[in-house]
Amino acid sequence: MASEHIIVVGAGQMGSGIAQVALQAGLRVTLVDVSKEGLAKGAERIKAGLKKLVEKGKLDAARLEAANGNLATATSATEVKDVDFAIEAVTENEDLKRRIFLELDGVVKPGGILATNTSSIPITRIAAATKRPENVIGMHFMNPVPVMQLVELIRGAATSDATYQTTKALAEKMGKTTVVSKDFPGFIVNRILIPMLNEACFALQEGLGTAEDIDTAMKLGTNQPMGPLQLADFIGLDTVLYIAEVLHKGLGDDKYRPSPLLRQYVDAGWYGKKSGRGFYKY
Ligand SMILES: NC(=O)c1ccc[n+]([C@@H]2O[C@H](COP(=O)([O-])OP(=O)(O)OC[C@H]3O[C@@H](n4cnc5c(N)ncnc54)[C@H](O)[C@@H]3O)[C@@H](O)[C@H]2O)c1
Repeated sequence: MASEHIIVVGAGQMGSGIAQVALQAGLRVTLVDVSKEGLAKGAERIKAGLKKLVEKGKLDAARLEAANGNLATATSATEVKDVDFAIEAVTENEDLKRRIFLELDGVVKPGGILATNTSSIPITRIAAATKRPENVIGMHFMNPVPVMQLVELIRGAATSDATYQTTKALAEKMGKTTVVSKDFPGFIVNRILIPMLNEACFALQEGLGTAEDIDTAMKLGTNQPMGPLQLADFIGLDTVLYIAEVLHKGLGDDKYRPSPLLRQYVDAGWYGKKSGRGFYKY
């Protein structure tokens, strides 16, 4: 099945990034969001992102015009016709995602694929909301989508080989490199990254070093572009805590317990960069 017309549901930071890379790949995209304001902002972000590529000489004027012409918007998926492939990137809430998948089941052509960008909800559970669990897959893009190379593909219990192959080909068409993960909490990246960030919170809590020393040690000692506490601030401490809780609950092992200091910062409303204060002040 070709993936020529894509519906991207959710026009937030991830959905708009996904739509942008699909447009760059020459695909037709309909971007959907319940919020009219969110939809307008998402479309603006895409246009600004494409314009920046032209300024950098990475996209020529003809392809910019084609990309702009290939973008449509809608406030409900049910208005959209002739869809080959759906990528869902709405707010991280299981009931909401299951509702959207039920809706997309009636929108996407028979045999077409329904992918989710969820960071933490089991693909198998989302797939069970549809009549085509074999055509449901996790397509976990990284933030910011236009910049980050990786897409994790997550196979649910019923995901077919054909669904996996078509999704891999689509991600590659979008210029991404894929890895495949089983459907277990955190998939690959967050399973390994979040415990490291959480451990940095424990290290700070125990006074092993200052925030600056912990970050400098990891940056210069392990060749990472930024230290773990700064990265946690950038991701959002509420999000880091949420994923740590998913790992703790889903894997049932206390080695994943969130650091009390991380929890306290979230209780204080210190979510990191987005709220002006986390381990650092912004
Ligand atoms: N932010 C990240 O770093 C990151 C990275 C990888 C994956 N994700 C995942 O991507 C998804 C989206 O995250 P985000 O950061 O873009 O969030 P966001 O808050 O920026 O965007 C979510 C969008 O979903 C829209 N929405 C809510 N209900 C809807 C509905 N019923 N129909 C259509 N649209 C609806 C909202 O209006 C909003 O525009 C989540 O599942 C998240 O876990 C996020």
